[in-house]
Amino acid sequence: MKLQDPDLFRDAALIDGRWIARTGLPVTDPATGDTLGELPDCTADETREAIAAAERAMVGWRARTHAERADLLMEWYRLILGNTEDLAQILTAEQGKPLSESRGEVAYGASFVRWFAEEARRINGKIIPSPARDKKIFAMKEPVGVCAIVTPWNFPIAMITRKVAPGLAAGCTMVVKPSDFTPYSALALARLAERAGIPAGVINVLTGRPEAIGAALTESPVVRKLSFTGSTRVGALLAQQCAPTLKRLSLELGGNAPFVVFDDADLDAAIEGAMQSKFRNGGQTCVCANRILVQSGIHDAFVAGLAARVDALRVGPGTEDGVDIGPMINAAAIDKIDAHLADAFELGASRVTKPRDLPAQYADPVVLAGAKAAMRLASEETFGPVAPIFRFDTEEEALTLANGTPFGLAAYFYTRDMARAFRFGEALEVGMVGLNTGVLSNEVSPFGGVKASGLGREGAQEGIEEYLETKALHFGGL
Ligand code: SIN
Repeated sequence: MKLQDPDLFRDAALIDGRWIARTGLPVTDPATGDTLGELPDCTADETREAIAAAERAMVGWRARTHAERADLLMEWYRLILGNTEDLAQILTAEQGKPLSESRGEVAYGASFVRWFAEEARRINGKIIPSPARDKKIFAMKEPVGVCAIVTPWNFPIAMITRKVAPGLAAGCTMVVKPSDFTPYSALALARLAERAGIPAGVINVLTGRPEAIGAALTESPVVRKLSFTGSTRVGALLAQQCAPTLKRLSLELGGNAPFVVFDDADLDAAIEGAMQSKFRNGGQTCVCANRILVQSGIHDAFVAGLAARVDALRVGPGTEDGVDIGPMINAAAIDKIDAHLADAFELGASRVTKPRDLPAQYADPVVLAGAKAAMRLASEETFGPVAPIFRFDTEEEALTLANGTPFGLAAYFYTRDMARAFRFGEALEVGMVGLNTGVLSNEVSPFGGVKASGLGREGAQEGIEEYLETKALHFGGL
């Protein structure tokens, strides 16, 4: 890794403005298996220190005007964008995605900081008409308090900024626990926040394994909110751990997105959308198309067109020019993909794309025809570059298949029939729908799911509400 500014590669956790360097948590490059560095495996005591620091820092942070907080966030935004290349290098080194995608993620992550800098100045309360003549009632917005932010490895920058920026805009302070696979991006962001002038203790970053840190964060009564992106299993566990202290929760959990192509779809647009939705980050996103449902009349042309595009994908180290798919995050990810493929082949699916001989850390992007509801990949998130095609005949059948999952994060469908667009879009049981588009993610649109996909929304105007409480202030005797 050749950084223009090596100071952004921080071998230390951050508590109350102090950088704490220690070995204990090795971090590896998924493309090479090389150790990038070692970070502290922070303890429960250090977690409590970070919480105490965030509590102290909140006194001054919430007292600032909204415009002051907005200015600091704007400065952070500029520094993030100004250091795109270094941030992208760090991201690719620890996460594996191609550099072009890492640069895209830096821009995506920065967009949340700008958006919530802008929203910081629009945190308005309201005056409620009182039932009594001598009274006035104000509903005021206040910061929730100290927040625990627990983020995943698949978007090591954007999942932090999507949570931290609205929290800071609202006047909250943060204890961030990034994934132990990808902590360096979080530390680089924290370094830039320091340079932007965000005071010590407002953002703390704890590196390490999740158990001790997670337990100390969830049991603390000082932490008033937890925001988590990750699996439904861990989200439910964290919710249980937060129950005794009744924390506010934002949970962005697993998905099982259907991608439905009707006979009347624009074929080329549907193939392009499927490529974007399925293969972003090598299929390691929670909004990835997990099940591609194609109507009989367009089925063969869609499968052939998609397979041709997938055969042309380049797989290799994310640092190499022209690579489309980098290594998977770890061996467990590869094992799950292999298990889904083995199960699908056993139950009658066939591979349409050409097989490749790849080193162990890479997954072969594959299109499968003949996928069936009984296969594991129909009910579980594969989280890899596998595109299983399910054939259907009627709209009712497609809807039953699409909604036939406990998850409800994203869904996509392609049609040129306007009546169907409304009918089908409304009937899908998800938080986000892409109609004739395979891309849903940006800073202005509410991101989140229903059912087992979680609670709350991120980004958009809704995103800041997650970090605000409403206080009713009654004035009597007027
Ligand atoms: C995720 O996969 O967790 C987030 C994806 C996105 O923000 O688009």
